[in-house]
Amino acid sequence: MAEKTPGLPSWANVSSKRRAHIERVADVVRDWADRLGTSKRERSRWLSAVYYHDAIKDASNAELRKLVPTERYIAALKHGPAAAVLAERFGEYDEGILDAVRYHSIGYAHWDMAGKILYMADYLEPGRKFRSEWREELRDYVVADPDSALFEVARARMKWLVESGWPIPRETLGFWNSIVKGD
Ligand SMILES: [Fe+2]
Ligand SMILES: [Fe+2]
Repeated sequence: MAEKTPGLPSWANVSSKRRAHIERVADVVRDWADRLGTSKRERSRWLSAVYYHDAIKDASNAELRKLVPTERYIAALKHGPAAAVLAERFGEYDEGILDAVRYHSIGYAHWDMAGKILYMADYLEPGRKFRSEWREELRDYVVADPDSALFEVARARMKWLVESGWPIPRETLGFWNSIVKGD
């Protein structure tokens, strides 16, 4: 039986700009999987998480609220949990993939590699316009030392979050502490 190639799910609702971002994240992940000698199955898990993660980021706030009725997350943080709800509804049962998608904006202490890879690739994909050289170096660093690269990405994102003055979600704090302690 031919192996299913991960791609955008049938329920995706994305602009062409968003689709281009998702494809760039997928390209980064394919490159890392090749260079890390990742198994086909694991590579496919990582790519499933990539294709789900922003698949309904362009949906209306009302639609996102229907999928994620909690007031806990501001609108910008709802598309991850909402995508996880839809992925599960459409047959995804891999909890590691669902956690990768659900928490991709905020971090999660109990991620497996799918979550960590998505978190790094989403931030390090080459289309983003800040700190291009530093992020390019980090893309190589992921292949040499994924744990240290994850720490660097999380540190940069935490720094930004603190400086923004936004409240820090408890999942983000848990994620940060799990990395610092080397769990
Ligand atoms: Fe996102
Ligand atoms: Fe993204």
